[in-house]
Amino acid sequence: MITDRVKELVSEIEQATVSNKEQLEAFRLKYISKKGAVTELFDNLKNILQEDRRAVGQELNTLKNLAQNRFQDFQAALENAADSNPEMLIDLTLPVTPNLQGSLHPLTIVRRRIIEIFERMGFNVSYGPEIEKDWYNFSALNFADNHPAREMQDTFFISKSEGDVKDDVLLRTHTSNVQVRLMERQKPPIRSIMPGRVFRNEAISARAHCVFHQVEGLYVDKNVSFKDLKDTLYHFAKEMFGKDSKIRLRPSYFPFTEPSAEIDVSCFICKGKGCNVCKHTGWVEIAGSGMVDPNVLENCGIDSEEYTGFAFGMGIERITMLRYGINDLRLFTENDVRFLRQFEGA
Ligand code: DAH
Repeated sequence: MITDRVKELVSEIEQATVSNKEQLEAFRLKYISKKGAVTELFDNLKNILQEDRRAVGQELNTLKNLAQNRFQDFQAALENAADSNPEMLIDLTLPVTPNLQGSLHPLTIVRRRIIEIFERMGFNVSYGPEIEKDWYNFSALNFADNHPAREMQDTFFISKSEGDVKDDVLLRTHTSNVQVRLMERQKPPIRSIMPGRVFRNEAISARAHCVFHQVEGLYVDKNVSFKDLKDTLYHFAKEMFGKDSKIRLRPSYFPFTEPSAEIDVSCFICKGKGCNVCKHTGWVEIAGSGMVDPNVLENCGIDSEEYTGFAFGMGIERITMLRYGINDLRLFTENDVRFLRQFEGA
């Protein structure tokens, strides 16, 4: 009777096939593990008549060897298959994991675009410190000691000097400090743009923030004229906002330029007809600008009889908001991925 069972198992084991790890393990459990069929038969050996025990024992040993050999063969075959075809280990039916790629921040996209436009016109890129002395942020730029414009910029002071205000240390309120640093260390011609972060003590709202970004521009050489300023910014506006863009200059005041002008670009949303973005004027302001005041040139060791220059400064947030129709400054710093994802591939 026990031999019938052995025959049955022999034929089962001989016919068994295994094509993956799970089936291999199932084979092991079924036949050769401690609770497997072969072990079970060995356990039954004690119930067999003494005189038959030896013969049956031999049969069982043969069965056991057969099971173990088959197991080893299956195992080797699976390993070989995996080696020669690694894809067997990859489950091609699994859903694809989404490729979560980051995107550039809209301010980065626009800063890079601004730099690209000016680089093609022959400007290089310069950087300066965010923690600055009064001299570079104000005094050298022709802000008199008690000039109200100092107050208007809502400066974050780091340390007030006991003596000269020029030695106060502060967070720069604009990127114009880099103009001074450039002119101090480099002789004209200077043609540079200066992107960077600036700080003002303003309450945070949809239209104001205490940290924002500007790009400063400076061109100093012999015979630089107001026309050069106009041409440069006109070209910029067309590249940035579309070739039909127009610009207009409104007289303004900055301590470091004379004359000074605010630059407006024709509203590229309503094409000048009037909409919410341009507050129905057909124009949006994009930059402050002017001819570098001779006092500033002299403060930086440049002969104002020999050289002239123009300068401009624009807010990167403002240009980004105009370009993408963003109506709240706070979105730039909140890092809400639903906002940021909209710039994928932009
Ligand atoms: N620094 C000015 C501001 O932050 C912007 C500006 C105006 C920069 C006129 C200039 C300029 O270089 O010529 O409001």
